[in-house]
Formats: sequence, C-alpha cells, structure tokens
Amino acid sequence: MTEQDFIPKAYLNSIDQGRVTWSSPSNIALVKYWGKKKDQIPENPSISFTLNDCKTTTILSFSKKENNDDFSFDVYLDGDKKDDFKPKIETFFKRIEVYLPFLKNYHFKIETTNTFPHSSGIASSASGMSALALCLVSVEKELITDFVSNEFFNQKASFLARLGSGSACRSIEGDLIVWGKHNNIKGSNDLFGIKYPYKVHENFKNYQDTILLVDKGEKQVSSTIGHNLMYAHSFAQERFKQAHGNLNTLISVLESGDLDAFIALVESEALTLHAMMMTSMPYYILMKPNTLEIINKIWIFRKQSGSKICFTLDAGANVHVLYPENEQGPVIEFIKNELVGYCQNGHYISDRIGFGAQSS
Ligand code: DP6
Repeated sequence: MTEQDFIPKAYLNSIDQGRVTWSSPSNIALVKYWGKKKDQIPENPSISFTLNDCKTTTILSFSKKENNDDFSFDVYLDGDKKDDFKPKIETFFKRIEVYLPFLKNYHFKIETTNTFPHSSGIASSASGMSALALCLVSVEKELITDFVSNEFFNQKASFLARLGSGSACRSIEGDLIVWGKHNNIKGSNDLFGIKYPYKVHENFKNYQDTILLVDKGEKQVSSTIGHNLMYAHSFAQERFKQAHGNLNTLISVLESGDLDAFIALVESEALTLHAMMMTSMPYYILMKPNTLEIINKIWIFRKQSGSKICFTLDAGANVHVLYPENEQGPVIEFIKNELVGYCQNGHYISDRIGFGAQSS
C-alpha cells in the first residue's frame, strides 16, 4: 500500500453533527523505534506489546461550520480546557488533512481522559494520538457510503496515528504489533502497524508489565528532539542494523518461548536506546539514580530466584518490569518489598498485555 490509498474518494453522506468515542491503550516497545526520516517514517522496524490498562479515552464531538478556511477545535483534559495542547493537534491536523479532507468543515470538541495520571511520566502521546486518530476515522466512516472493512479502518487509524506520534501507530490493535519494514515479517511496512503475523509461544500470553514511576516530571529532552539527534549520530547506522537483527532473532524467540533469550534481547534494546541518548551530540541522560538501583535489584533477584523477570525502558526514567503471568505472585511481592522504595511517592502501575483500542 502507499500513502495514496489513504486519500478518500468523495464523501457522499452529509452529516451536521455527531459524537464518537474511542479508548486506546499505550504500548511498550521490545525492539525500539529511535530515529526517523521525513513524514514520520521510521529508520528501523520496531515491535511492541500493547498494554491493557494504561489508556486514553477520547470523546470527539463534531458540528458543521460555515467557514471552511481553518481548523477549529477545543481540547479538554479531565474536563479542563487545555489550550497548550492545541499546537500539537494543529500540526497533526495539517499533516493529515490530505487524508481526511473533511477536517476544515467541522468544529471539533476533543474531550480526553487518561487512566494514568498526566504527571506520571508515562507518555500519553501513543494512547492519545491513537484515540484521536480512531475517532477521526470513525467520523470519516459515517461520511462514506462505501463499505469500509475493519482491516482498512485499522490500517488508516494506524497510518494517521503515526503522523501524530510514531509509536502511536502501534496502539490500535494488540497484542504484539510490528511497525516498519522488516524483510522477514510479512506485511510489515513503514506506513502503519500490523499485528505480528507468526506463532507466539504460550509463555508470552498475558505477559505482565508493572510500571515503576521513578520520575513523574516532564522529560528534559523530548522524544522528537531525541529522534532528530540520530541524524548526525556516529552509531546510527549500526543501531538501525542492530534493530533489524534483533527483530529477526525475536521471531524465533517468540516461537520457541525461550525466556532467557527474550530477556537478553529486551534488556539490551532498552540500554541501547539510552546509550544512543548518552552518545548523541548534545548528549543527555534520562535515567535517574533510582532507575539504575531498580535495574540492579532486578538482576540480583533474577540470579537468586531463577525468575524470568526483566526490565525495559522508554524515553524516560520509569522502569517497565516485564514477567510471565505465572510469576505474578512472587514478582509483585518482590516489587513491594524491594522496588517500591525507589518509586516517586511509592507509585507503580500494574498492567499487562492488551488487545487494542475499543469504541463505545
Ligand atoms: C523510546 O513515538 O514518542 O518510546 O514519533 O516523535 O512522537 P515521535 O516519537 P515517539 O517515540 C517513542 C520512542 C520510544 C521507543 C518506541 O516506543 O519504540
């Protein structure tokens, strides 16, 4: 498929007003997207677990307006008007207007809530942008008289979400999503996320993700700036090659259920992501001392108990603790006894693999 496939034919239905609602989850990458080309095209393929409980619900109300010259919308978070969110959404609307030509015909009210606290350091861009993209594709579906398959609906939502925030394209479906062209993964492409198409071992069913909130503050360096620093990065090409290789290895790991190989790959990806940040120019560090304390404790616990617990990181200080469902009891005990002390105000969020966005 190409970008052109997402440009609609004429809208034959006329609708004056309406309202759609979507809840869309966050996701956590196992092989990380870090570095992008023009138009949110990733430099390397990535794969993520879709989460279940960390999500954004967006209600999009729309009403026809007279003047079609500009975008018109208001944004609310938890009922409060958020004008500081508008520039990001305006940029998103500009990028996607060619694929949703109705955007200037309506005034939109975007009401959004997150299940996780806004100031948790958990990025809301993946869940937020995917929820908004899904709402917009739902509106378009009402304007089109032709049948729209579920498959195309999800592809277009993912395609649009990507233009809002790259990783958001992996939040439409679950439970494992690949984004970015990989030679050995059928259907993988740079434009939208696809469900991982091969066999996944029982070991990975209902995988758990407990997110330890080490630092709830705003990050000093945004992901967008971080991606841009990959342009002139001395190790960039090697890193992109490595991501292809890791995804290749993961295909057999996911099939065999080899948890030791899974741990090695996932932890290496997390540390490589942060190594890229530390070796950018300018360089920076998003991990905090407590991030490292937690990593060390996890390593010690794993060695002593034989647990298959591991960690991953996104672009921040928080730690995602990943483990198989059958270890839930002892791992939660370990987290409560030994890791909670490193979390800001003792906060953590228990989540697990999920199956994608839902409308209501
Ligand atoms: C470290 O998707 O937040 O979480 O495309 O600029 O919005 P933009 O970046 P974003 O980058 C996320 C990077 C990551 C790794 C990942 O999720 O794959």
